[in-house]
Amino acid sequence: MPHLHHKSLNCPPKGWITMGIETSCDETAVSLMEDGRKVLSSVIASQIPEHRKFGGVVPEVASRHHLECIHQVVEEAMEKAGKTLEEVDQMAVTYGPGLVGALLVGVAYGKAMAYALEVPLNGVHHIEGHLQANFIQYPELEPPLLALIVSGGHTHLVKMTDYGSYEILGKTRDDAAGEAFDKIARALGLGYPGGPLIDEQAQKGDPEAIAFPRAFLEEANYDFSFSGLKSAVLNYLNSSRMKGGIISIPDVAASFQQAVVDVLVEKTMACAREHQLLQVVLSGGVAANSLLRGQLENACQKEGKSFHVPELYLCTDNAAMIACAGYYDYCLGYRSGLELNAAASVPIGQRP
Ligand code: KG4
Ligand code: ZN
Repeated sequence: MPHLHHKSLNCPPKGWITMGIETSCDETAVSLMEDGRKVLSSVIASQIPEHRKFGGVVPEVASRHHLECIHQVVEEAMEKAGKTLEEVDQMAVTYGPGLVGALLVGVAYGKAMAYALEVPLNGVHHIEGHLQANFIQYPELEPPLLALIVSGGHTHLVKMTDYGSYEILGKTRDDAAGEAFDKIARALGLGYPGGPLIDEQAQKGDPEAIAFPRAFLEEANYDFSFSGLKSAVLNYLNSSRMKGGIISIPDVAASFQQAVVDVLVEKTMACAREHQLLQVVLSGGVAANSLLRGQLENACQKEGKSFHVPELYLCTDNAAMIACAGYYDYCLGYRSGLELNAAASVPIGQRP
């Protein structure tokens, strides 16, 4: 039975239904959740094919697609959950960080629903959502924990001491981990999004073929930097091409991926040690990476820490994680008003 020990939580009666909406980037997602952690439905309409021809997400295209499909995604989520609108007790919607035009579609929809249904509204922080995806996967999991959140837009080490209580212990100073994967994939001509394609190529390559740099920065500092690694890979590709040498895409992919994963794993473990946190959770789109999942799990096992990572559909952008985070915000007493607005960048832990 979760959250018995957390007196800060004032949870609603059993059977509480939260509708989550997520439109911060290129997926239009709606989910119905029961009591915060039980997925009744999670529907995701991906726009990846629309953006592929541009090699990345085009904000204006993203907003238009959210507008075009959000209503249908809501209907599908209701139908799959077997619920009616009258049964929805709460609206939870991502208000930031993300693309403002994209966020606004979900925020406007969420506000309209909360108003029409006369139910409470919670604006949810996207990164807190990624972290809490782990609560859905592990119904017994509770803070305190250390989270490594790695996505296309973020690379964060977050200490969650209690529900609603977050401290960022490290973050990227330049590119996010997923962004680095996407850029290298583009340089290798693999396409978009790059993460899964590099992951796939890397399976056939030698991770020790090319010695790419690892930026550990200063001792006991948990910030990340991937721009040096990115430049090193681009330089390697340029000079190989100029020399007319053969480039092994699997070797480049495997060596690059190993460099990213080494840094992520080492920093996460050092941080968990220093802060004496026994539970490590991984989340965000890059958590889908097979090497990262495997290596972080091994490292945790070796050091007697428990390791958690959600299923793939809960790692990448989805609305179940937003409904879960919105549920706990509600239990903490937070409510958003109809003046809720989208925010491109907003610190974790801050309430709208
Ligand atoms: O969480 P997410 O769906 O969206 C953001 O909030 O950014 O993360 C998307 C990112 C992309 O950069 C994508 O290339 C990366 O996650 N990604 C991966 C893998 N699958 C997705 N990166 C590495 N390996 C993967 N298997
Ligand atoms: Zn995300």
